[in-house]
Amino acid sequence: MITLGIESTAHTVALGIIDDKGKILADARDMYKTKKGGLIPLEVAKHHNKVFPELLKEVLKNIDAKDIDIISFSQGPGLSPCLLEGMRFAKDLSKKLNVPLIPVNHLIAHLEIGRLFSKAKDPIFILATGANTQIISLEGDRYRITGESMDIGIGNALDKFGRKIGLGFPAGPKIEELAKKGEYIELPYTVKGQDLVFAGLVTEAINKYKKGIKMEDLCYSLQETAFAMLCEATERAMAHCGKKEALLIGGVAANKRLMEMLDIMCKERNARFYSVPLKYSGDNAIMIGWLGILQYKSNKRYYDNLKLKDIDIKPGWRVDEVDVNWS
Ligand SMILES: Nc1ncnc2c1ncn2[C@@H]1O[C@H](COP(=O)(O)OP(=O)(O)O)[C@@H](O)[C@H]1O
Ligand SMILES: [Mg+2]
Repeated sequence: MITLGIESTAHTVALGIIDDKGKILADARDMYKTKKGGLIPLEVAKHHNKVFPELLKEVLKNIDAKDIDIISFSQGPGLSPCLLEGMRFAKDLSKKLNVPLIPVNHLIAHLEIGRLFSKAKDPIFILATGANTQIISLEGDRYRITGESMDIGIGNALDKFGRKIGLGFPAGPKIEELAKKGEYIELPYTVKGQDLVFAGLVTEAINKYKKGIKMEDLCYSLQETAFAMLCEATERAMAHCGKKEALLIGGVAANKRLMEMLDIMCKERNARFYSVPLKYSGDNAIMIGWLGILQYKSNKRYYDNLKLKDIDIKPGWRVDEVDVNWS
């Protein structure tokens, strides 16, 4: 069976086709970027609306639309205007092809593609995206959050600092490059129990930039501090939950220094560190399709009878609100 997945929760708009063995048949994407400034949700949604038809043409180049068995789309969490564009496109396509529409949780899609593409069996998941930073483990039929940011996600923290110093969006990759030439200076480190707070760290880095401290030193120190906070909470979660594996996913998982730090922490406690191929760490539609297949196969009758009018977006949806009845 094959599915067409649709992603449009934030900056990335993507369509992907994957089969139930995990074979990728088509993968088309476009990302809203800026040279200066950040994301304006209504502008991003307009962008997505414009590129959907081109992406559809691209993924159907070598695949007959009649062979698609189900459509999967990101129902949340995300920016409402972007989610609405994705849902509208998804419902139209589901009607046109007369196939079931499977709404999926975007964050759980990150976790499940991580499980598919790594050899990790029962890891502590480190979900490090733009908007979300959570340490998660699968306990019974729920993904449980064992630690998380109390304010902004780690990617947004990097992007926010980057925006203030004129790096544009996304700033993460540029900060990683600049950090290679930087030296350490102390910045606020805030971990309380398993809770992380990034805003004070970003504010202080911006203040120091205004006082004339070198951009490279701030990029390096911002990374070192934020990543060390994440490592500390991850290590404690592994100890508490008795897990011998850690799996890093989300857009910030592209960062080599973060991978290195987590790898060192795991080695020191005789655990194994896993990551996913770069192409699938950030937002993509393949992961949405894959989770759609898992859900559909475990609950076929429900999805065959689900009416389009009963499906709506879920902008603030959390991973621990979803029953995991597919694993
Ligand atoms: N090499 C990198 N180092 C650090 N952060 C990165 C890197 N590449 C991408 N990012 C960050 O990843 C985030 C996007 O990740 P993604 O999983 O797509 O997040 P979301 O779905 O929350 O927008 C952005 O904040 C971006 O700056
Ligand atoms: Mg994401």
